[in-house]
Order: sequence, then structure tokens, then C-alpha cells
Amino acid sequence: MHSALPGRTNPLFHQTSIPRGYRFLRKPLYIIVTVIVVIWMLSRLITGDNRPSDAPSTVMVMVLNRTAASSEMISKIISNRNEYAHEHGYAVFMKDVSDYPIGPVPDGWASLPAIRHAMTEYPHSDYFWYLDQNAIIMNPALSLKDHITNPTRLSELMRRDVPVVPPDSVIKTYKHVPAERINFILTQDHEGLQPGSMIIRNSEWAKYLLDAWYDPIYRFYNFQKAEVHALEHIVQWHPTILTKLALIPQKIMNSYPAPPPSSKDHAYQDGEFLVRLHRCEKKGRSCEKEFNKYWLQRKVAAHAGEQGYVASAH
Ligand SMILES: *[C@@H]1O[C@H](CO)[C@@H](O)[C@H](O)[C@H]1NC(C)=O
Repeated sequence: MHSALPGRTNPLFHQTSIPRGYRFLRKPLYIIVTVIVVIWMLSRLITGDNRPSDAPSTVMVMVLNRTAASSEMISKIISNRNEYAHEHGYAVFMKDVSDYPIGPVPDGWASLPAIRHAMTEYPHSDYFWYLDQNAIIMNPALSLKDHITNPTRLSELMRRDVPVVPPDSVIKTYKHVPAERINFILTQDHEGLQPGSMIIRNSEWAKYLLDAWYDPIYRFYNFQKAEVHALEHIVQWHPTILTKLALIPQKIMNSYPAPPPSSKDHAYQDGEFLVRLHRCEKKGRSCEKEFNKYWLQRKVAAHAGEQGYVASAH
């Protein structure tokens, strides 16, 4: 008779199956394993977390849809991100929507596996910043750290006790979460959460967030606004997610073009970090036209021109 697990009487596992002469080896084995573990722990203490000295602090994640824009616009977008990354020593993780089998759902979903993927390629980096294709970094002098992630700065920026989904969702951001505990930074516009520009701090929690958010249950649920509504759902239903989330003022990293579609307080003004052409693909607008208009207004990074990151005016 065969059972799934060996029974106590199975001769293979029976005490007497170990020849008497070798029994003394069992104790030394524990000792050897303990010594190895201790040495390993000590070596970790001495060498830190094995973080290579050249690991970038921040990785910019971009997912391109090359059929949605002219090749000229795509190359401007790439040079804009590279120029900014070069200025601050960040890495650029650039992928194509078609690299991720998201299924028959809107493009925006591809941002989630892309960030997850970037985290495996850059396990020693602290921050992953995802920015939509239809955006221009307008003021490359601002570093993400000074402008946003530094805890002192973040603490000033954090919008506490405000409805997660404006104007009146009953779930509000926490009043007293310290900035050090934040793992997820994003903005809201007048309609809701806006993950088109979002910063995620590398952590086990971040992987949980991305996995939960990308779950097929949400992906194929047909939320009216796809990944945005899925996010609003998980943020409002899971306090574990809400406690590590910071909402910061929209213009810090998600200014919109002068109307439409923004109300005046969200409209891009000279000197701000970036402009994101939210919904520029809608009827009556032109992503390319709007892009080119702002492209001419952007500031060029101080070190552009080095290493071929020449940002020409058009
Ligand atoms: C890319 O953009 C085009 C045009 O907007 C759209 O039809 C397509 O579904 C998008 N996604 C992919 C994966 O190409």
C-alpha cells in the first residue's frame, strides 16, 4: 500500500535506519548549519545589503505606445526623459505596451507590470517614477528628492484628511501618517486619483500593491476608467494601502494644459515640474499640437548636451 507521506514505520525514516556509527553526525550538522547562518548574517552586517555603489536612487518607468504618436513626438519624449535622468543620475526603464500581455484592456494597465518589471531589474533602487507618454518634463532642474520624496518636503506636501475621490468620498487620507512611512505618492485631479504620474518606493509592500491592483479580477471587471477606478477601489477598501499613500498637490507632478481640461488651479504655469496632456486624444484636441506647444516652452537641463542628450528646440 502506498500512502502520500511516509508513515512512522517506513523503514527509510526509522531511527534504526541510520547506522549506529553515523548517529553522532546529526548534532554536528546542526552546529555546522548554525555556524554557516551566523557567518552569513555577519557578512551581511559588514557589507550592508549588497547594494552596488552605482545603483541609481530612482528609476523612471515609461511605457510607450508607438502607434499612438508620430515617431518625431516619440523621439522627443524619449530625449526629454533621458535628459532629465542624466541630469540627476536616474535610470530610465523604457518598454513598449506590447511587451506586456495585458489582455484586451486599455493601455494604462501596462504601467503596472512595467513598474513591477523595473523593480526586478533594479532591486537596489529606492524610487520608481512612472510617467505617462503624453507628458513633458518642463523644469528638469527639480530633482525628485528635493521636489517631492525628501521626508521633510513630503510632509509639507501631504494632503491629509481629504477625500480619496473628490469631491466627497467618505474615505479620507489619514491625518497622522508620517512621511517616512509613505510608499506611494500620487495626485488627484478634479475627478479622482491620477496614476499617470506616480512614485512608488521599492518595498515588499509595493509589490503587494502592484499585484493586488493588477489582479485579473480588477483588470477584466470593466471599470469605466480601467486602472484608475480599480485603484480607487483598492485604496478605499484596503487600509493597508491607504496608510502608505500620500496625495500631494496636483501641480507638483501633474499639471494639466491651460484649459481644457483643467480648472484654472491645475493649469500649468511657467517653472512647474511637468505638464501632462491628460486626455489629449479626445475629439477636438491634438496631442501632437499641444505637445509641440509646450515643447518650445520647456527649460533645457543644465547638463543637456553631454553624452548626446542634445535637446534641440524642435
Ligand atoms: C496604442 O494606441 C493606439 C492608437 O491610439 C490604440 O489603437 C492601441 O490600442 C494602443 N495600444 C496598443 C497596445 O497598441
